[in-house]
Amino acid sequence: MIYSRIAGTGRYLPERILTNADLEKMVETSDEWIRTRTGIEQRHIASEDQRTSDLCVNAAKIAMEDAGVTVEDIDLIIVGTTSPDLIFPNIATIIQHKMGIPACAAFSVEAACTGFIYALSSADKFIRSGDTKCALVIGAEIITKLIDWEDRSTCVLFGDGAGAVILKPSDEPGIISTHLGADGQYKDLLYYPVGVSNNLAAAGLGDSRIMMSGNEVFKVAVKTLGAVAQEALDANGLSLDDIDWLIPHQANLRIIQATAKRLGMPMEKVIQTVQIHGNTSAASVPMALDVGIRDGRIKRGQTLLLEAFGGGFTWGSVLLKY
Ligand code: COA
Repeated sequence: MIYSRIAGTGRYLPERILTNADLEKMVETSDEWIRTRTGIEQRHIASEDQRTSDLCVNAAKIAMEDAGVTVEDIDLIIVGTTSPDLIFPNIATIIQHKMGIPACAAFSVEAACTGFIYALSSADKFIRSGDTKCALVIGAEIITKLIDWEDRSTCVLFGDGAGAVILKPSDEPGIISTHLGADGQYKDLLYYPVGVSNNLAAAGLGDSRIMMSGNEVFKVAVKTLGAVAQEALDANGLSLDDIDWLIPHQANLRIIQATAKRLGMPMEKVIQTVQIHGNTSAASVPMALDVGIRDGRIKRGQTLLLEAFGGGFTWGSVLLKY
């Protein structure tokens, strides 16, 4: 039986930091409001000339070094993102070209904040099938390009970044299970109103900003993230005691706390980065994973539960032994 196993991780955050104090000068808000409602203290913002693929390349190089692989080894690239450089070609091919990775399958998946979980789950299946020997899997966003900086209800929440993992075959898990889901009936609670076949001409004319019903998103997020985690545990006959670390999507500290409480998971076993990264959408889970590994909390052999929730709504989990 072939399993897939994380051989290395990396993350990249743009240099520029936007603090709550900076935001106080931009919109009618306060550090106190942002901290108490979201837990966020700062977020990183990409520079004008940075593209999402640049963030990916930086994170990928670190993950490849960590895994001890070279560009010649990579035979699959999957990127979860909602903010690709271009409509096409897909961002994975742009990364492939920038890094000099030889010809291989390269594609992106769009599942909003669940993008990385969808990407990792897909790569797992390629490896298990025997088709892929070394996958580069990335979650990345320059989501702040979609922000209306005058809309205080959304502009305080988001940040940019990229997280990458190298996935390789192994005789032992590795990834134990993945579960993906979506329910399109919630489309109108969280969306961006401009696309290729919808309203493209309106882009840049003022109505192109993230549309979000914060309260309703909050409630469904807590319910779904709790259920997603439970689904993964039930499918494997495990209990919360078997999980060393929960690595949830980092949207809002209150959502993370409420989910942990619902599950009965102590916050000490939950990796939290939302305070310093903000909501980086598809980049949040792989960056949180990398933070936990590099600061020494997450150790080889430990059991991790990764989960995310995002626009669509989409959701998913990956249960793995690191
Ligand atoms: N600063 C100050 N006041 C703000 C504000 C800001 N940045 N943003 C909104 N407010 C105001 C509102 O206008 C409202 O004022 P009113 O009562 O006079 O109308 C008040 O604060 C309360 O707004 P409300 O939306 O009820 O706050 P909340 O406690 O629900 O917190 C969110 C708002 C957005 C932080 C919260 O709903 C949330 O995190 N939702 C989930 C969002 C999310 O995670 N999205 C991504 C999912 S992947």
